[in-house]
Amino acid sequence: MSASPISIRVNDAQHTISCDPKTPLLYILRNDLALNGPKFGCGLGECGACAVLIDGRAVRSCVVPVTAVKNRSVTTLEGLGNSTSPHPVQQAFIDENAAQCGYCLNGMIMTVVSLALHQPDAGEAEIKNALAHNLCRCGTHKEILAAAKRALFLANSAALHGSLDSARESGFEPSHVKTDRGERNA
Ligand code: FES
Repeated sequence: MSASPISIRVNDAQHTISCDPKTPLLYILRNDLALNGPKFGCGLGECGACAVLIDGRAVRSCVVPVTAVKNRSVTTLEGLGNSTSPHPVQQAFIDENAAQCGYCLNGMIMTVVSLALHQPDAGEAEIKNALAHNLCRCGTHKEILAAAKRALFLANSAALHGSLDSARESGFEPSHVKTDRGERNA
């Protein structure tokens, strides 16, 4: 297949890429846009290391052809926060020391952000279910679960007790992450 120009929106910025339309989104993010938050693990949609948000939902970018996100909003780990201003979910993982080798963290964090956006009242069973297919080979599951619970507690508090503004201030409604909760979109 010959290369053709494709326009995609990533972390609030528009990019035009020339590539085979079947190229996995993960390859474009890492190789063309130098966004290395999403990791290559299995390349088969099995491990979760490559997760990104597409319109606010965690999706495995290794099995999504780049053309599938033409009119969608993609958010990578880099679009959440940074070392000086981490997203609340990133901060929860820091607070719970939920990292060992760190390779799975991108997928864990993106999955928890997706859960916080769409199901902030999720309990332990739902958290475990959401993370069940995100693989961690270091055995950091206890800390990851604690981090997810901490993040969900914050997200739930923002949703229950806060206004739209306080939810945004808490980082759970970043304006560039579209949600399906229309009343919460600006
Ligand atoms: Fe995409 Fe494993 S690299 S799910």
